[in-house]
Amino acid sequence: MDNIIYIQNLCKSFNEKKVLEGVNLSIKRGETFLIIGRSGAGKTVLLKNIMGLLHPDEGKIFIDGVDITKLNKKQLEKLRLQFGLVFQSSALFDFLTIEENVGFYFYQHTNLKKPDIRKKVKETLRLVGLEGIEDIYPYQLSGGMKKRVAIARAIIYNPKIIIYDEPTTGIDPIAVDKVISLIDDLHKRLAITSLIVTHDLEVGFKLADRLAFLLGGKIIFEGDKQQLAQTQDARVQQFIHGSSSGPIKETQV
Ligand SMILES: Nc1ncnc2c1ncn2[C@@H]1O[C@H](COP(=O)(O)OP(=O)(O)OP(=O)(O)O)[C@@H](O)[C@H]1O
Ligand SMILES: [Mg+2]
Repeated sequence: MDNIIYIQNLCKSFNEKKVLEGVNLSIKRGETFLIIGRSGAGKTVLLKNIMGLLHPDEGKIFIDGVDITKLNKKQLEKLRLQFGLVFQSSALFDFLTIEENVGFYFYQHTNLKKPDIRKKVKETLRLVGLEGIEDIYPYQLSGGMKKRVAIARAIIYNPKIIIYDEPTTGIDPIAVDKVISLIDDLHKRLAITSLIVTHDLEVGFKLADRLAFLLGGKIIFEGDKQQLAQTQDARVQQFIHGSSSGPIKETQV
């Protein structure tokens, strides 16, 4: 399997604060990849670099063989269409209907006519298990349904890679289970590469083929679940067992 994402020595600081200090990572085409790490470790910053939303200070990021750190603004805008993004907060527009939210990209960036967009929205809502809600507003939905609408909005333009940043935060356990099944189902159906960041390790381990642990600005573990179980690295063990005692100190991210 080839690498759809390949990162070499990625460094990113904000003023004096070093967040990423030489990240190396490879994500294979078609896999579900999990990124774990403490709050503030730089997971979201890493995702933003991958999507071309932040420019790294150093390093290379290859997406499908293209080093995106060399792209100009217009090329980056095009690159972003390869990514579907599901934010933690769902980030739906409250003043737009579900149809307008899910079809947002087509309404904003294409000349497609409303009936055609509506048809695409209908099909995509069916994929996420929500039918007939085109004309209502986000406030009429539960948290779990909003997550699924956010997923519909992310997949509607057929991205190659779907990125979930905390997809199950803030919803009840039954809704969590539905979102997990949906992520898994879409992954299989759309033959897409999925990249997930979550603090919920149980959710992450259920979904992921492989994972990486970000600590101190570097990836200190990359591998599959079997390799994770066998690793001797006390930092990795401490994190996955959620233990307060061990080599990782309270303030270290
Ligand atoms: N635009 C920015 N300007 C300045 N500092 C930033 C910016 N974005 C992120 N940071 C800092 O970078 C660090 C990493 O932030 P990031 O949001 O990537 O963490 P995270 O691993 O996603 O945490 P969480 O699990 O809580 O979401 C934090 O200290 C944050 O304050
Ligand atoms: Mg984050």
